[in-house]
Amino acid sequence: MSAASKEIKRITTHILQKMKMDGERISMLTAYDFSMAGILDDAGIDILLVGDSASNVMAGHETTLPITLDQMIYHAASVVRAIKRSFVVVDLPFGSYQGNSKEALISTIRIMKETGAHGVKIEGGEEVIESVKRIISSGVPVMGHLGLTPQSIYKFGTYAVRATDDTEAQKLLKDAKLLQEAGAFAIVLEKIPALLAKQVAEELTIPVIGIGAGKYVDGQVLVMHDMLGINKEFKPRFLRRYLNLYDDIFKATQQYIHDIKSRDFPNDQEQY
Ligand code: KIV
Repeated sequence: MSAASKEIKRITTHILQKMKMDGERISMLTAYDFSMAGILDDAGIDILLVGDSASNVMAGHETTLPITLDQMIYHAASVVRAIKRSFVVVDLPFGSYQGNSKEALISTIRIMKETGAHGVKIEGGEEVIESVKRIISSGVPVMGHLGLTPQSIYKFGTYAVRATDDTEAQKLLKDAKLLQEAGAFAIVLEKIPALLAKQVAEELTIPVIGIGAGKYVDGQVLVMHDMLGINKEFKPRFLRRYLNLYDDIFKATQQYIHDIKSRDFPNDQEQY
């Protein structure tokens, strides 16, 4: 952590903007529960995203589509109770904003009132611009999300890299500019070529945070379970694993079972 970050009490959109201007990279991870969020916040993470990836990693669904607004609110309220410093962003889940901008605003207001989070994230560009404007006009910071947008997985048909052809790349660049003009405070770019992400980050004045979008953007986000190695099977090229928690938890559990079966646990000191 830099000396400047140590003095910061709470991360705000203004601080994130200043980090972009100063060239200080922004760190972001997902979180879904009180205990883990507290550790990530204590460690100094800048942004905690209560991602709809909770649908996959917490609930075991194949996609992000099934998670409900009520379930997102439960996860987000748990995260917010733990944090002292990080900026908490909550995903608007599938089905909570696509109807129209009024629906998007009503869902956002529920999130803000019932969780105490600091902003929302919404997938899409031009097609959600009216919603983005309406949410921002209510005073709530909005983060955009372009590139691989998992709520559209059945439209894409695959989790492959997006915007590799010129038409999609130009649309992504246009969408990013529209989001900035609408007032978004930051944009996530997921799984797109690094040079396209670089162009977006250079042409935008707001922070651009990448996941599988290369090293030229203003910050990075990973799904906590992937970064900690809780998921063994998920191995995309962009993922760097910092722990192998699956193996550690597996071994600890086997040791625990062994200690019970062998009557080693509890011992004399571990009883009343
Ligand atoms: O839901 C999520 O975890 C996300 C990240 C992949 C950016 O949107």
